[in-house]
Amino acid sequence: MLQTFASSISSLLDARALGHSLPAGLYTREDVFEADLDVFFRRHWICIGLECDVPEAGDATVIDIGKTSLILLRDDDGQIRVVHNVCRHRGSRLLDAGKTIVSKLVCPYHTWTYELTGELSHAPHMGKGFDKECRSLKPVTLKSIGGLIYICLSEHPPEDIGHLEHVMAERLAPYDVRNAKVAYETDVIEHGNWKLTIENNRECYHCSANHPELCVSFVDLDFGFDPETLSPDDRAQAEEHFELYAKRTEQWENDGYPSAAVEQLVFCSTNFRTQRLIISGAGESQTPDATAASAKLLGSITRKDLGDTHLWGHNSWKHFMGDHAVVSTIIPLSADTTLVRTKWLVHKDAVEGVDYDLEKLTSVWVATTDQDAELVARNHAGVEDPAYIPGPYSPFTETNLDKFATWYIDRMRAHGY
Ligand code: FES
Ligand SMILES: [Fe+2]
Repeated sequence: MLQTFASSISSLLDARALGHSLPAGLYTREDVFEADLDVFFRRHWICIGLECDVPEAGDATVIDIGKTSLILLRDDDGQIRVVHNVCRHRGSRLLDAGKTIVSKLVCPYHTWTYELTGELSHAPHMGKGFDKECRSLKPVTLKSIGGLIYICLSEHPPEDIGHLEHVMAERLAPYDVRNAKVAYETDVIEHGNWKLTIENNRECYHCSANHPELCVSFVDLDFGFDPETLSPDDRAQAEEHFELYAKRTEQWENDGYPSAAVEQLVFCSTNFRTQRLIISGAGESQTPDATAASAKLLGSITRKDLGDTHLWGHNSWKHFMGDHAVVSTIIPLSADTTLVRTKWLVHKDAVEGVDYDLEKLTSVWVATTDQDAELVARNHAGVEDPAYIPGPYSPFTETNLDKFATWYIDRMRAHGY
């Protein structure tokens, strides 16, 4: 009888050819999915939300990652905390999925009660000698970087988050994301592996054919092009754009806004890239006509021409503009489904209908996110087809995908695969 053995994860990693997309099994197999969750969502820093998700004391929100459930909350002293959503009695979940307001965390099972600091304050019928002090909710290691909440579930969080923190604390300060308002939020489930979601986000090769709304304000050339492919006119335009880019970067930097590209994408634990990009057209914001959607600008910003500070991580992408920010985080749900959670941020005092029009604020990234979900689903379906063979990345427009795939293999190896 013919017997087939599934190849090991290690041999799938070996099979990856440089400059090419990953072997199918790395996108589709259940055992790889479980390994990915462990390596990339437990042992690396991930972005799970924002301080302004929980603006008031007692605000809480539950974030589920695989079998791990976390509570992001603001305690009575205004401090942000992340604790495990697991009662220290017999393990019951404390809160259900979604957002809530709490004065204490009360377990629905036997009413053990925790303060918002995580300390156990009430545990009836446990006897005189019962020590409440060692039964606090398990805290999660967290860092707020300019109001963006990063956590790591490992006991040994990678130290190179320090570079991201150093670079972004200064860049994000003027936007005061900490005190922004979440004006709108969407959850989109993409029918594709999380790595296809990230690959799709790291190239704009697909933009001109698929994102008419985004292309009004976004310059796809910024993420690479082959000069030989361009017509003489387009080439002249591209050269003009890069001259302008150099000039604008210098101006922004002289005005005190760090702007040049900084990246840490390979041979590192914490994967990120940031750069202040030019917004084309009216030059202000990622809206249908590239003008600002909110009259009240973010934080302490007084000008609309600060471009788009983009920031990638391995589970998030973000765009910070003068008038608003768009923050997307992803959580893998299964080998072939990925949650994409997107939030639109405005100044905390900006009022819908007065300072901003919600449709204008959200329409570009709502359309883009839906278009991307469609693209990722098509990509995943093709990768699942036995006819799929890993294909070559463009050396001009997809170099960042090659770096991502290389980083992925390297991190899997570093964790014993
Ligand atoms: S499991 Fe929570 S109080 Fe018993
Ligand atoms: Fe896209």
